[in-house]
Amino acid sequence: MNRYFRVDYDDRQIAWLYFDTQDASTNVLTEEALEAFDQQLISIAQAHPKGLVILSAKESGFIAGADVKAFATIPSPEAAKKLILRAHDIFHRLEALSFPSVALIHGYCLGGGLELALACRYRVASTEMSTRLGFPETHLGIFPGFGGSVRSIRLLGHLPAIQMMLSARSVSARTAKRLHLVEFAVPKRQLKNAARRLILEQPAAHTPPLSRRLPGNALLRPFVARLLRRQVARHARPEHYPAPYALIDHWRKHAGHAARMYASEAREVSTLLTGETAQNLIRVFLLQDRLKGLAEKSDFTARHVHVIGGGVMGGDIAAWCVLKGLVVTLQDRAPEHLGRAVSRAHKLFRKKLRDRYQVQNAMDRLIADHLGTGIKKADVIIEAIYEDVKAKQNLYRQVEPVMKASALLASNTSSIPLEKLAEHLQQPERLIGLHFFNPVAKMPLVEIVTQAGNPPQLIADATRFAKGIGKLPLPVKSHPGFLVNRVLMPYLLEAVTLLEEGVSATEIDEAALRFGMPMGPVELADTVGLDICLSVAEKLSETLHNPVPESLRRQVEAGHLGKKSGQGYYTWDKGSAQKEKPRPAPEQLGHYGDRMILRLVNESMACLREKIVDDAGLVDAGVIFGTGFAPFRGGPMHYAEKTGKKEILSKFRKLEYTYGNRFTPDPGWEDFQT
Ligand code: NAI
Repeated sequence: MNRYFRVDYDDRQIAWLYFDTQDASTNVLTEEALEAFDQQLISIAQAHPKGLVILSAKESGFIAGADVKAFATIPSPEAAKKLILRAHDIFHRLEALSFPSVALIHGYCLGGGLELALACRYRVASTEMSTRLGFPETHLGIFPGFGGSVRSIRLLGHLPAIQMMLSARSVSARTAKRLHLVEFAVPKRQLKNAARRLILEQPAAHTPPLSRRLPGNALLRPFVARLLRRQVARHARPEHYPAPYALIDHWRKHAGHAARMYASEAREVSTLLTGETAQNLIRVFLLQDRLKGLAEKSDFTARHVHVIGGGVMGGDIAAWCVLKGLVVTLQDRAPEHLGRAVSRAHKLFRKKLRDRYQVQNAMDRLIADHLGTGIKKADVIIEAIYEDVKAKQNLYRQVEPVMKASALLASNTSSIPLEKLAEHLQQPERLIGLHFFNPVAKMPLVEIVTQAGNPPQLIADATRFAKGIGKLPLPVKSHPGFLVNRVLMPYLLEAVTLLEEGVSATEIDEAALRFGMPMGPVELADTVGLDICLSVAEKLSETLHNPVPESLRRQVEAGHLGKKSGQGYYTWDKGSAQKEKPRPAPEQLGHYGDRMILRLVNESMACLREKIVDDAGLVDAGVIFGTGFAPFRGGPMHYAEKTGKKEILSKFRKLEYTYGNRFTPDPGWEDFQT
């Protein structure tokens, strides 16, 4: 036994090597764990067992991957390459063992973990829902670097392997079996038997059929690579996300030559890993971990949630909580809204759960509760009725005397200060905000909106609840717009100003896409709904010192609400905006981009100065996960830091000179260090 592994030999001379990192709930392939693994392989080889089974002693999973934290501090491409070559050596040793080896997989088996499994002769995986196998590396700006880009192709065939690496999606055990990624997909209780059987019977290892080997033919590869590049280009630009393109090139140049592929993998991945995109994406990954970590100060558990208001938000929040295993009672004064919410929920369950019985189980957990009988039993009560102070206050008056003493009372308000909403409560400090974003199932962030009197334990409990339903919690102060809407609005308003100046919607959106935003601001405004944008703009107008643009008001008055009405700044046809090709020269697009992005960056600084969130890292996390802000840039504050204080301030001054005081740099920049 050492800090990472323990080995047992059974009466059939099979070695069972348990990965069991001390004082951790998860196994991660740190440099030290890899070395310990190598030592184990050397000593097991000397014992000449009949076979080796590698498994995890953690309930959470097999191996979560390589040590992403360490990636953030790798000093140079040379150091990265050294680490990768060392991992190659260790996995080659595993692959070359003279007896059969099996990876026994239950729970997640990701990145470096899957690469280790691929170096075994066989793999078995449990059919439990928690089992996922995948290569998330491209989300971190790299591609599999511990031999995975070579071994996955050898096992699955060219296209299935490349697609799996490019998509970064993980698969279930059953899908893994179909792909021949594992030999057996069986219930957890049968895993050990399945592993034993493979060792005793030693079937021939799978080789992909000719049809799967063909695309790797040297004559076809350039053609296939072009198609793959085109497919990737639909989601990621090479100047923003180089990793998928590097993977395709690596495959195009070296497929079919194992030694050259291993060498190229080490070279390419070490260069990518220490590049700016990967380092920023790693930062985003760590920020995500930080948000999850904020939930550790509480062990609050909820089983029953009561949602009041079954409209757009309430209905979707209820469905989401059910999807995450909770029982939900959903109340609305209008029964027809409940009907609509339940049928939307059914659609979501069918999409996410697939299995008929699980969908039925989920439907059983969602209870339409016209009279609000669930209030007295619920652990969490979420109010999501329409945005009206009096209506919300009246509702709380009815809820407070009935709810359990231990229950959380939360509002999904997007703009009303909590202090105002809580005015008539017996215990005003009990009210907290849980600000979900639309669409609930897609947006990962929930702002935990706090008011001055909230006890720290309540904030911790609400944070824990949000994390428990699979969202990223971010505590924010109750101040108009909180963090996300507040920084997003100036960016959208600048886009509207550009429209008023006569710049076309397509050009404005292209400028934002070039910066790396996932969707242009005009398309975003049309998608959210111009009526909703107008109402948020009106509420934030004072805080932002920004009058509401007349053209926005006119659009709403004319009934042009965007995607939902078929007409907004764009005309919409079958759910997509009709765009023309953008014409202006790239410098102009750069200038438009600067105008919009710098307003967002300036407002981010204002939020930091006003302590809407605690620090710059949390501003970045909130803006990335709440608005989709170009993740490869590491967040608005990080972008400012990389650009440099002098450069940022000089850009603000120039824009202020031309366009006025909406570009005046926030006073917070004075203390900003780069
Ligand atoms: P909505 O208008 O779609 O739904 C409101 C629902 O509440 C309606 O079904 C209505 O019948 C029901 N309702 C009204 N008074 C009630 C009462 N006293 N008792 C029971 N049910 C009642 O509104 P939406 O868009 O879902 O917004 C709800 C809340 O979520 C608002 O506070 C809004 O600011 C906030 N929000 C909205 C977002 C959005 O994109 N729509 C995003 C984030 C927050």
